[in-house]
Amino acid sequence: MSAMPMERDDLQAYAASVANCSKCRLAQGRTQVVFGSGSPHAELMFVGEAPGFHEDKQGIPFVGQAGKLLERLLAGIGLQREDVYIANVLKCRPPGNRDPQPDEIEQCETYLFRQIEAIEPKCVATLGNFATKLLSGKQLGITRVHGQEQEVTLGGRRVVLYPLYHPAAALYTPKMLEVLEEDFRRIPGLISRELLAPEPVPDHPELALAAPVAEPAVQLGLF
Ligand code: URA
Repeated sequence: MSAMPMERDDLQAYAASVANCSKCRLAQGRTQVVFGSGSPHAELMFVGEAPGFHEDKQGIPFVGQAGKLLERLLAGIGLQREDVYIANVLKCRPPGNRDPQPDEIEQCETYLFRQIEAIEPKCVATLGNFATKLLSGKQLGITRVHGQEQEVTLGGRRVVLYPLYHPAAALYTPKMLEVLEEDFRRIPGLISRELLAPEPVPDHPELALAAPVAEPAVQLGLF
């Protein structure tokens, strides 16, 4: 049996209901659950990796250096963070900012899928490898797929999935920043795209993704 459909108006109550989540080990070291922030009516949603030090303290995603860059990139396309919705694959900070572990992602992914279902964005921009692999259902690394949009069904609706380099990686690599800026400039065009009707919804709509491609798994961290 699938859960009740998630509506925009349910999002705040849903956030409150997961504030005490203890499904994985990250509950022990966190200050708080960092659920997500921004407009529940956003056409554009960003999905990063996991909260860092500042996000854990403030309870808001992307408030550190990577967040500042994200805000600058948004300003470049005429948007502010209040216009979009920002979330992460993991809602709690991994100790020492280590990579998310597969079991942590598995425990946490329902929250992200429910957020997407509630917000109904037109475009979901995935920042870095972890979000890209989770939402594409493919193991292709971000270096290969950044800037290549694909239509997928998420939360029972068609969305444009748009993989981007993670801003934290671009902070220290000028070439990557250039590419990220270039990829960002295509976002307005992607949001205004006409999308196909949703595909028939299976029992688990959150898993209805584009057909997986047979590729060896790659572990490339942010790259
Ligand atoms: N990096 C992320 O992936 N998410 C944040 O919230 C902050 C930094």
